[in-house]
Amino acid sequence: EKLKVITIDGPAGSGKSTVAKIVAQNLGWIYVTTGAIYRTLALLFHESNIKVTDLENTERFISFITERYRQESNSGQVFIGERDITNEIKAPFVSELASILAQEDFVRKRLLPIQRKVVLNNNGAVVDGRDMGTVVFPDAPLKIFLTASVKERAERRLKELNQSGQKTDIKEILREIHERDERDLNRTFSPLKPALDAISLDSTKSSQEEIAKKILQFAVQKD
Ligand code: C5P
Repeated sequence: EKLKVITIDGPAGSGKSTVAKIVAQNLGWIYVTTGAIYRTLALLFHESNIKVTDLENTERFISFITERYRQESNSGQVFIGERDITNEIKAPFVSELASILAQEDFVRKRLLPIQRKVVLNNNGAVVDGRDMGTVVFPDAPLKIFLTASVKERAERRLKELNQSGQKTDIKEILREIHERDERDLNRTFSPLKPALDAISLDSTKSSQEEIAKKILQFAVQKD
């Protein structure tokens, strides 16, 4: 049977998560944002003062996440056990630490099964991240690579952060986006890049609804 997965990869603030949610809702599929898993790991590191080079404790955290991580598709809420960490993992320092941890090959390898499990346990999923089409779901029948100008991405990020009640300014966000792009694009393992069979879309001048509509049209063609 054909894999019921649509992958959406792209840089921070390209609109992946909003687009993925709309597409998932239309198809009656679940929506999974894999960045939240990297962010959860970052939060655990931050709260414990453990160094990234401490393999044993990293392993412990990853087992903890494997057992307790939960993402609710409709609300977008993220839980670790009973604890709701949805807002905490959006903080800029978490984004930064997540992208640092994401450079480590053993971290990526250990987080692979969780990402696949969340998706394959369900009847159809739209997943967003950086390496969904290239590494995590190389057999997905429909792969999207979503981009947008840096300015547009920074403005979206600012709006998002303001909505979740966090104070920051555009300069700070631009700096964060540049740093994160640099790391995500240039890392040795699973760098951010389009899969060979991915369709590239630019959301700079289109609304997220328009992009979602295009993806849904591709989905129908592929069916
Ligand atoms: O997508 P989001 O901005 O929430 O991801 C946070 C960080 O996690 C990214 O900057 C990236 O370094 C890492 N990530 C990754 N691979 C994924 C998803 C996220 O390396 N599939």
